[in-house]
Amino acid sequence: MSSVDNKDKWAALRAAQVPPPEGDGDFTSPDPEAYTGKRSIPQPQPLERHGPARVIAMANQKGGVGKTTSTINLGAALAEYGRKVLLVDFDPQGALSVGFGVNPHTLELTVYNLLMQEDVNIEDVITKTNVAGLHVLPANIDLSAAEIQLVNEVAREQTLARVLRPVMADYDYILVDCQPSLGLLTVNALTAAHGVLIPLECEFFSLRGVALLLDTIDKVRERLNFDLDLDGIVATMYDSRTTHSRQVLQRVVEAFGDKVFGTVIARTVRFPETTVAGEPITTWAPASSGARAYRQLARELIAAVDEKH
Ligand SMILES: Nc1ncnc2c1ncn2[C@@H]1O[C@H](COP(=O)(O)OP(=O)(O)O)[C@@H](O)[C@H]1O
Ligand SMILES: [Mg+2]
Repeated sequence: MSSVDNKDKWAALRAAQVPPPEGDGDFTSPDPEAYTGKRSIPQPQPLERHGPARVIAMANQKGGVGKTTSTINLGAALAEYGRKVLLVDFDPQGALSVGFGVNPHTLELTVYNLLMQEDVNIEDVITKTNVAGLHVLPANIDLSAAEIQLVNEVAREQTLARVLRPVMADYDYILVDCQPSLGLLTVNALTAAHGVLIPLECEFFSLRGVALLLDTIDKVRERLNFDLDLDGIVATMYDSRTTHSRQVLQRVVEAFGDKVFGTVIARTVRFPETTVAGEPITTWAPASSGARAYRQLARELIAAVDEKH
């Protein structure tokens, strides 16, 4: 997509931010199943060799929209399709690490050490998960100090890109789970990334935040990372029983067209359960609708990324 197209779509999104008046009568609700069905999603082909990685920043400065859940489960689903995947926990809350049963307090080396200490080797920080081909760069609260300490570094926005470079050839996808802010850590993720994937909760207020996120993406593209792409927007926490959810989805589709993944992630208690279980939904409840949804999202992403090459 050219940046001109982006500008048009983003203008449309900004115009769409205002919630409709009460009882918006002529609203026709989108049916995610129906519009997903319009696209055929090919079965991913097995890979003969791995790398170089496509780095994807999973970003939205709003908390609780499904960034971490999407990073874990999209990553696990990509790995099921034979892709080698590295997940970067880039939020000092360490929720991604906890999602794999890692105790963040007992970690000796985290992404923080990697960013701040020249002598730390990325291979020594990478941790295996219960899923074959899925690795994690864990984080804990130490990472919150990096935001301040990096300010005085040379090329502070490029730090994550620099530390990932030695393993770019080993992975097919590197997904960066961003923190809920547009601060220096998120700018580092956007600078290291080839694409951005925005998990968007099906709530009106979440649309407002996206305009700001898109401005940040524009700025990073203009100043730091000319080829940064919008890989897509995935609607999360969708509740088909509420008109509210359907209206938000409708507006997002109107604004972003084919940038919205056909796969919509429904709201289900199975996701909070997986946090306690310490594993992805794809292994915890492999046949659940949540697991199937993230597998479909993985197939859509693989098809979209393959098309770019
Ligand atoms: N589709 C979903 N349905 C229900 N709960 C969800 C869903 N996705 C995520 N959650 C839960 O919502 C909370 C916030 O999700 P999370 O992925 O941590 O968001 P973020 O990383 O954007 O802050 C978590 O408790 C998570 O288990
Ligand atoms: Mg999170």
